[in-house]
Amino acid sequence: MSEAEVVVRFEVEGGVGVITVDNPPVNALGPGVREGIIDAVERGVADPNVTAMVLIGAGRSFIAGADIRQFGKPRPMPARRSTDVLDDSTKPIVAAIHGYALGGGLEHALSCNYRIAVASAKVGLPEVLIGILPGGGGTQRLPRLIGPKAAMDMIVSGRHVPAEEAETLGIIDAIVDDKDLRKEAIRFAKSVAAKRPLPRVRDRTDRIAEAKTDPGMFEAMRKSIARKARNQKAPYHCIACVEAAATQPFEEGLKTERRLFSELENSDEAKALRYAFFAEREVAKIPDAPKDLKPARIRTAAVIGAGTMGGGIAMSFADFGIPVKVLEVSREALDKGLQRVRDNYAISVKRGSLAQAEMDRRLPLIQPVGSYDAIADCDVVIEAVFENLDVKKEVFAKLDATMKRGAPLLTNSSALDIDQIAAVTKRPQDVAGAHFFAPANVMKLLEVVKGSKTSMQTIATAMKMGRDIGKVSAVAGTCDGFVANRSRAPFITEMMLMLEEGALPEQIDKVMVDFGYPMGPFAVNDLSGLDVSYMTRKRRAAADPNYRKLHVPDRLVEMGRKGQKTGAGWYRYEKGDRTPHPDEVVKSVIADVAREFGIEQRSFTGEEILRRLLCASVNEACKILEEGKACRASDIDVMWLHGFGFPRYRGGLMYWADTIGARAICDQILSWHERYGARWKPADLLCEIAANGASFREAKPKRAL
Ligand code: 3HC
Repeated sequence: MSEAEVVVRFEVEGGVGVITVDNPPVNALGPGVREGIIDAVERGVADPNVTAMVLIGAGRSFIAGADIRQFGKPRPMPARRSTDVLDDSTKPIVAAIHGYALGGGLEHALSCNYRIAVASAKVGLPEVLIGILPGGGGTQRLPRLIGPKAAMDMIVSGRHVPAEEAETLGIIDAIVDDKDLRKEAIRFAKSVAAKRPLPRVRDRTDRIAEAKTDPGMFEAMRKSIARKARNQKAPYHCIACVEAAATQPFEEGLKTERRLFSELENSDEAKALRYAFFAEREVAKIPDAPKDLKPARIRTAAVIGAGTMGGGIAMSFADFGIPVKVLEVSREALDKGLQRVRDNYAISVKRGSLAQAEMDRRLPLIQPVGSYDAIADCDVVIEAVFENLDVKKEVFAKLDATMKRGAPLLTNSSALDIDQIAAVTKRPQDVAGAHFFAPANVMKLLEVVKGSKTSMQTIATAMKMGRDIGKVSAVAGTCDGFVANRSRAPFITEMMLMLEEGALPEQIDKVMVDFGYPMGPFAVNDLSGLDVSYMTRKRRAAADPNYRKLHVPDRLVEMGRKGQKTGAGWYRYEKGDRTPHPDEVVKSVIADVAREFGIEQRSFTGEEILRRLLCASVNEACKILEEGKACRASDIDVMWLHGFGFPRYRGGLMYWADTIGARAICDQILSWHERYGARWKPADLLCEIAANGASFREAKPKRAL
């Protein structure tokens, strides 16, 4: 039996040829699938007993797209494209969609004559998210079906469109009962079997005529994405292809699509985005987890503390339909916290990003409570009280006494030792960290922190809980700052110290925004508040006589400049406006510090600023791997993408380091070690990677977690 026959089946049922793609897990168009489809269509066309055909997927999805693992590798050019063969069929073909029809999957559906779907199905052309464009005719067929404007919106955003919306747009002809899609599809196929001419998307001209009445739409789209899509080619190439669909004959448009596709396939951004795609799937896997490990399902949650963090965590559960109790012993604090949650939802409604009905559905899921007894039955509890070990220990002793057996007891601490917190309970195996990033209902990263006694079961449940509330969960080992913040801390130190040497906040911010961050690190610090890390620095300075003080931010905080909330921080802000304005006061504080400490002044290039910030973190990331606190180097990259706004099309911190090269990074760090001393001492692992010509992103931890 050939490979093609294994991944695609063809059966005739009641005069309808059913082509079933069966390539688990998601029916990607891997080896043999396209050939199998061609073969099946040819059999259906040749068989006099077949009057119509159905294209359907086995398992959980229709077809999730091309096999992403094949990109960047040499592939034989097929003699015929399966989409053309579907198009050319002399008998009607119905695509029957469940799960996902994405990328090449939707392109195949668009080459069928009809499309039906179950209500839970989603369709989309998400190629742009991996740095390419729909290369199977999607950029030419979709605009012909739904108009260039709607097509551009889908192709440039890459979003998944639910079946109902897809029906309204005209992508789906009918939504059918999801109990037996195959049966429904056969019924539909029989009902259209005799209809002629066969409707073909490629022949449609009515919808692309829209571009004639609004020829400026392509330029307007380019302008609207300019900020978000800076440094990237794929979104612009997507627009160019849709423009070609509106202005060129179908075959010419296809040629344009192919040409632009091949420009993108091996581009740096496509390689980095493919890496990010697979790194995000790897991060979900817990190394050494037993095969039969089954995470518990979280039906109800509890949050201790109704502060900004606690409220944000509660919203994260409510946003995904999970009832959550919020515990505060003080009535006043509870009321204040719940009011903040209401206000946050109301702002989203006002901005138009949330429907009022959705707010009304979510709010009642958040239930304020005043006693530990009231949360005893919850499936999980997340403590989000003041960041102080003694306070947290007190809370965990109470949780130990009240919570039902087996419920994970999680702390949202951002730095404290999980083992010390677990030690006050009689069930340290159930205790772990669940480190959310602020604002907790917005930021995607969830660091699940393993203490030395935390069980695999607790980790697995916490990871699954994260996924269920839309987070990207990553496992970290317990150490000061865990993995994400610890790897970023040297970046923060260096950005402050460069000021003392002559750089300015606006200069550093510009370099990082040009690199691809949505905001510069100083502007971000103004948003989160300069006072947040002030106390930590004071604590560290008191504990360690060699601690290198950061005088500039300390002085700004002492002057009352705590960021946007006080109208001034690294920048000054006009009332009611969030635009940062460079400030002479900051300049003079920097100059004072430099003078007082006799720090030599010099100028910085953008390249030096970028390297200094990122190299400092690469070095720390290597130490983290050495100590076995992260499971994989690529996990650190995922944390940077989802915790700190690192530009996705640059892959992540370690991926970026590989683009510079291990030898160059190591030499750079050695020279700064010589110049600045101990804080730049290169990690042993970093030297090893450089000596072996190895890669950062594939570096393995030296110890198990
Ligand atoms: N190619 C190769 N592998 C794929 C894949 C693809 N297109 N889509 C998913 N997989 C793999 C994943 O790597 C994962 O493998 P693993 O178990 O070994 O880690 C497995 O399938 C399951 O994937 P998820 O964990 O992501 O499963 P979910 O159920 O959470 O999500 C999904 C399903 C929404 C389909 C998601 O996997 C996804 O978004 N996939 C990518 C879709 C995509 O980008 N399609 C376009 C491809 S490019 C294209 O089609 C070009 C064409 O125009 C020529």
